[in-house]
Amino acid sequence: MRTCMTLALAQSGQLLPLAALNQPSPAPRRHSRSFPTAWSLATAAGILLSAGQAPAAGVDGTWRIDLQRAGGVTVPTYFILKQSSNALDGTVVINDSVDLPLRHAHMDGSNAVFGVDWNTDYILRPDGDVLRVTLTYGGQSHEETTAHRVPEAEARPPRALPLPAPHSVPANGLAPTPPMGWNSWNHFGGNVDDKIVRETAEAMVNSGMARAGYTYVVIDDTWEGGRDAAGNLVPNGKFPDMKALADYVHSKGLKLGIYSSPGSRTCGGYEGSYGHEEQDARTFAAWGIDYLKYDWCSAARVYKDSDLQAAYQKMGDALARCGRPIVYSLCEYGMGEVWTWGPQVGANLWRTTGDIQDNWRSMSDNGFSQERLTPYAGPGHWNDPDMLEVGNGGMTGIEYRTHFSLWCLLAAPLMAGNDLRTISAETLDILTNRDAIAINQDPLGKQTERLVQRGDLELWVKPLSHGARAFGVFNRGSEAREVRFAWAELGLASKPLSLRNVWEHRDAPPAPEGWQGRIPAHGVALLIAR
Ligand code: GLA
Repeated sequence: MRTCMTLALAQSGQLLPLAALNQPSPAPRRHSRSFPTAWSLATAAGILLSAGQAPAAGVDGTWRIDLQRAGGVTVPTYFILKQSSNALDGTVVINDSVDLPLRHAHMDGSNAVFGVDWNTDYILRPDGDVLRVTLTYGGQSHEETTAHRVPEAEARPPRALPLPAPHSVPANGLAPTPPMGWNSWNHFGGNVDDKIVRETAEAMVNSGMARAGYTYVVIDDTWEGGRDAAGNLVPNGKFPDMKALADYVHSKGLKLGIYSSPGSRTCGGYEGSYGHEEQDARTFAAWGIDYLKYDWCSAARVYKDSDLQAAYQKMGDALARCGRPIVYSLCEYGMGEVWTWGPQVGANLWRTTGDIQDNWRSMSDNGFSQERLTPYAGPGHWNDPDMLEVGNGGMTGIEYRTHFSLWCLLAAPLMAGNDLRTISAETLDILTNRDAIAINQDPLGKQTERLVQRGDLELWVKPLSHGARAFGVFNRGSEAREVRFAWAELGLASKPLSLRNVWEHRDAPPAPEGWQGRIPAHGVALLIAR
């Protein structure tokens, strides 16, 4: 039930990526006082005058705020408001990227009050020609800024460009086993910069993570600066020289990944690849990029859901022609049953869920909902239930071992999402467990399936090469449980020759009748039977 709901939501596009709803940078935010630009006010005035109208009273109309974001980038958000006396309705184009309907919208005297999701609430107070705006994030931090009236056309998305007819992009031969690496988003959000990436690469090598198999260092959203006069994508002030950074990461024996969107804006409101796909793929290749995460975000404003495959194919084609092997990671939260067409667009992995958060509920919803996707994973193309949260502090050690065990059994990409520079011994122990990683990286490339579900107890199996099998005995409940499974329930004709307990780091002689053990609340026993 849980499975169906999560996936159904994702497919209908209702399950929005969390970061599209949140503001992207956990850093303290400043508001821009540089707005309005002369251009936008002149345009607004021109349009109003040419229509021979006086400015509408109250908050009715289209308004823009500009928020200053990491890297010195300014990101607009638009309010398209319909006010009729006390009634208020409309849309917010958050980060110029995602259209969200107003929730709980009402007028409080002359002030407009609404939220756009669970996380951001707005109060707009008319003050002469402008609106004084208070944004409240998660009921906690505040930001004050000013909204200026703009022509409605300014808030509209760019026109949809033609998309290629469906064809098969040749497989790039990369990711024969699930990609392993690190991604900046879960821990650093908008704070990632050149220094953090370099230090992460160093830490990946020095901590032993690289030796354990972690290779890709991926810069997520908020690195983009815009385009130069020739239309080339350029980094913002946080990344002074992307080619030099790639050279540095390569000098450590690692690979560098980057992030973009098929839309004109990323979820964070930064520059996307829309209309520049070939050019951006060539730029990435010239910098020495080895991995691209390509996030739908504002593409939803220009394309229809039925365009998903063609839009992803467009970049798949561009990567195939860019002259450099680049792992292609789709991020569209599982919409349009991406697992059924991902390989055709040249993808090596595709997100199957909304954004993970660093808590038990989110992690287990994402991880345990993957069962019906088992047939779609295999060498070169993997289901991705989102990046790891291990070590970020929101779960217990037991829960992080469950998280990692589940991702290993799922043959999911293992993209660490914590701060590797300050990694604790316990987190390192989890992320570098050799037996768990061997399960994930097994060359057979099979994703786990659920064998038994008994209330909160679940038994999952992953076939491994040479006839071995990995088992995860999960206790999703909040009480420790004594568990017994007969070998037949594990799908074994008789007791295996050997049984390795992955987290206990030991082989235990298998008992004749079956396996038994105690699993703590939210815990797992991860076993390899040979
Ligand atoms: C979306 C993705 C996240 C992250 C953010 C960045 O929410 O799902 O993984 O890339 O965008 O803005």
